[in-house]
Amino acid sequence: MHIIITGGAGFIGSHLTEMLLDQGHSVTVIDNFSTGKRSNLPGSSNHLTVHELDICNFEGVLNHTKGADAIVHLAAIASVQASVEAPRETHAINLDGTINMLEVARIHDISTFVFASSAAIYGNNQQLPLKEDTPPAPLTPYAVDKLGSEYYIDFYCRQFKLKTTTFRFFNVYGPRQDPSSPYSGVISILMDRAQNKRPFTVFGDGLQSRDFIFVKDLVEILCKAATQQAPSGNTINLGNGIQTTLLELLSTVESLSNHKLDTSFEEPRPGDIKHSCADNTRLRQLFSYTPKTNIAEGLKQIWDYE
Ligand code: UD1
Repeated sequence: MHIIITGGAGFIGSHLTEMLLDQGHSVTVIDNFSTGKRSNLPGSSNHLTVHELDICNFEGVLNHTKGADAIVHLAAIASVQASVEAPRETHAINLDGTINMLEVARIHDISTFVFASSAAIYGNNQQLPLKEDTPPAPLTPYAVDKLGSEYYIDFYCRQFKLKTTTFRFFNVYGPRQDPSSPYSGVISILMDRAQNKRPFTVFGDGLQSRDFIFVKDLVEILCKAATQQAPSGNTINLGNGIQTTLLELLSTVESLSNHKLDTSFEEPRPGDIKHSCADNTRLRQLFSYTPKTNIAEGLKQIWDYE
């Protein structure tokens, strides 16, 4: 099959590209390289085409997407903090960009559309585990645009019979996640501090917990949704349903690196949520999913990654 991946040179997109190529599919990556990197992508493959293109460039994207079987739409401003600071720019990419890709699918008659939504749409709801039918409570422009995108996808599914799957990603981690911003995923920051023997700051008491999912487990599900006859029109939590606290993470990283991190504690970040966890019953039912990589194995894979 021929799959288009927007944001294909990013952290998650590059793992997805790799897996689809390994499975014998053809991949077209559309990426503006704002945060994605060419070095994330496999060196040479006859089955990989890469276009440096912004998803806001509708004509450009339309010209390079004919004849595909599926779109996996990952391109977005992924930083929640950036959306708070620049809501207009974020909206143009995170919502208008989604509409562009839906129009591309409609015009070129691309049958399947897989979308990366986010657990951020649940806001600070602490009735865990979070079920998909929990009323949304988006707290940031990032979450609002993800939720708006979900509604547009639902419209294209009903109106144009586009086969859609919307995944609400929980906290994704793994090799190639960028640790450079203070708002980067906490695991990428922790691993960076352990590898470089630099101090680590815990915001709060360290007892906050998240549902971490390893990137390779996540892209395996995206592959299935893009290439197999998944039932259409579903919104699905993509998490393991397992809560890990920050202190547990810290101790696993310390044993892995055989190094006691220089740790200090500061006030919790404003707006920080205490706990997050997916109810992944729907994921298990529709994709026969069982969590594969536990935290210790996932951290080890990051540690060993060249
Ligand atoms: C995610 C977003 C965040 C957003 C929040 C909204 C990412 C990477 N982060 O945060 O921008 O505001 O959803 O709910 O998508 N932590 C530390 N030290 C650090 C870094 C983080 O203690 O150096 C803590 C955080 O305060 C948090 C936990 O680790 O309590 C996890 O942080 P993070 O990886 O950013 O994930 P979310 O909190 O889910």
